[in-house]
Amino acid sequence: MNIPTKKFTDNLELPVYGLGTWQMGGRWEADSTNDGAEKKAIQAAIDRGITHIDTAESYGNGHSEELIGEVLKNNDRAKLFIASKVSAHNQKHDDLLKSFEASLNRLGTDYIDLYMLHRYPEPGMPIAETMKAMNSLVDSGRVRRFGVCNMSVNRLKEVQKHSKHPIVCNQVHYSLAMREIVDRGVLEYCQNNDIAIVAWGPLQKGQLQQAEILQKLADKYSKTPYQIALNWLTSQEGVVTIPKTTHIEHLEENLGSIGWQLDKADMDDLTQNFPGQSNVSERVPLDYEADVEV
Ligand SMILES: NC(=O)c1ccc[n+]([C@@H]2O[C@H](COP(=O)([O-])OP(=O)(O)OC[C@H]3O[C@@H](n4cnc5c(N)ncnc54)[C@H](OP(=O)(O)O)[C@@H]3O)[C@@H](O)[C@H]2O)c1
Repeated sequence: MNIPTKKFTDNLELPVYGLGTWQMGGRWEADSTNDGAEKKAIQAAIDRGITHIDTAESYGNGHSEELIGEVLKNNDRAKLFIASKVSAHNQKHDDLLKSFEASLNRLGTDYIDLYMLHRYPEPGMPIAETMKAMNSLVDSGRVRRFGVCNMSVNRLKEVQKHSKHPIVCNQVHYSLAMREIVDRGVLEYCQNNDIAIVAWGPLQKGQLQQAEILQKLADKYSKTPYQIALNWLTSQEGVVTIPKTTHIEHLEENLGSIGWQLDKADMDDLTQNFPGQSNVSERVPLDYEADVEV
């Protein structure tokens, strides 16, 4: 399947749908129990046309990257867009460089398409030092593009001041139920500056409330509630998403969210009337104080 793309700063063309891998390969520690199923899920995503695969050094303490690395061996690396992240506690200059090498090794590749700060550096780590290391990686061509996660507008501006290269994306918690980036002006800022909003948690971990409004629109469009929820994201200017699934039937359902668009009136209805909206992420709020991803 041909996944539509959107264009952003630095000539980045990003598919509207990519694969998330948090909890593949474990949570904070490596867990090999489901390696077989998880590798199959990653391969199934690639077979269906997904090119953007999102991971992080912290996922399964590196094991998520290892699983992706194993799958990469059987695929054309050049056709894939691999995104990874350096954790906040590894953002001192030399630590960041070490983290990057370790990610490359686990992924079995010699470059990363998109390398992101998973959070703003921890206190005591000057952003100038972090960005000196990141700038050198982008200069070397081994990091193709630089992005960030979970940053407020002030944080984005601060990071950009120290970056020689454009910040191409801000990966943030955004879903029908989670509107923090709208309330805090992050969505508008990124749209105005051609910075991709990469929406994580788009399905609220599969627990998106089965609200009456979702079911009503699912019936109207002959789609499922999750397809409506994902389409509401990808129909917005400058927004792409990276749902995680290890189940092929979920993958196929989710891919049915693309290639069509909710009417403007229905988009507005969902934006305004989806019940139980929250404006502070229960997982990683913008301007976080601690690493609370759960
Ligand atoms: N930058 C950051 O700080 C940050 C934070 C969190 C996440 N992320 C990234 O964003 C990705 C997505 O976020 P997420 O994984 O937290 O949340 P999510 O994609 O909203 O939800 C994933 C959960 O939803 C389930 N699911 C997926 N499709 C489904 C369907 N059609 N029907 C029912 N359940 C379904 C999955 O279970 P099954 O596997 O059983 O389908 C999984 O438990 C992550 O994997 C990670 O790559 C980044």
